[in-house]
Amino acid sequence: MPRGFFITFEGLDGSGKSTQIKRLAAWFEKLHEAANTAAESWAEPPGRAPVVTRQPGGTEIGDRIRALALDSRGTRLAPMTEMALMFADRAQAIAEVIQPALDQGRIVICDRFTDSTEAYQGGGRELGSEIVLELHRLLCRDLQPDLTLMLLPPVEASLARAQRRNERSVAQNGRDEGRFEREEIEFHRRVLNKYREIAARERRRVVLIEGDGSIEEVHEGVVAAVAERLGIVAKK
Ligand code: ADP
Ligand code: TYD
Repeated sequence: MPRGFFITFEGLDGSGKSTQIKRLAAWFEKLHEAANTAAESWAEPPGRAPVVTRQPGGTEIGDRIRALALDSRGTRLAPMTEMALMFADRAQAIAEVIQPALDQGRIVICDRFTDSTEAYQGGGRELGSEIVLELHRLLCRDLQPDLTLMLLPPVEASLARAQRRNERSVAQNGRDEGRFEREEIEFHRRVLNKYREIAARERRRVVLIEGDGSIEEVHEGVVAAVAERLGIVAKK
């Protein structure tokens, strides 16, 4: 059985990752309808849509770690603790969700992975890349995505969207995940710079989608990158 295909999405809060993941999952689901020989091996049969997950979260234990790490009242979390929690979450997600799905030949789409820890804890919290990459080797057995879509619209646009979304979430269900969104703009610039550094280092894996494109335009960029890597000839 061939290994599946592992896709991750990265970017600042509010950069459009969840929106694009929903669109991409829907695109994969429609693929099986297309009588396209090149696409057939990757067209999941009905009921076998791509496995979609997110970090932190995506498992029962991960959801508890997520609440601990993101609740904006938990401000006393030390940077090392925060990084350890992100890796604890990830190790669980790999064991429980990601690796089993890849072993079955499935497509896995994950909202954030170790690039987020390198960008936020390594860059934003200034712990550096080295410790993050070393922990990834030890705790995640160096599992690498086959493709990473990095969405980098202007920082201000991302953060304004994320803030609006968090306010809606607090108003609707009392859930406050604003911990990182409350960081000063300099923190987010360090995160962004680290993302750019990763993209420059990992040219084969990372596809950068920059600028202020509409949801539709970004989706087209995402689909073009995925189709190219999987050898799918998109049917108009
Ligand atoms: P993320 O998962 O990266 O935090 P979301 O997908 O939740 O981001 O998007 C945050 C908000 O911005 C949502 O309300 C979404 O509808 C909106 N949004 C996403 N992509 C775009 C875009 N390209 N242009 C304008 N608004 C967008
Ligand atoms: P996420 O739910 O993806 O937020 P958003 O949808 O707003 O982009 O991620 C929650 C927050 O956790 C986000 O601010 C980034 C942060 N984070 C880290 O700091 N380190 C990590 O390793 C991960 C996975 C996320």
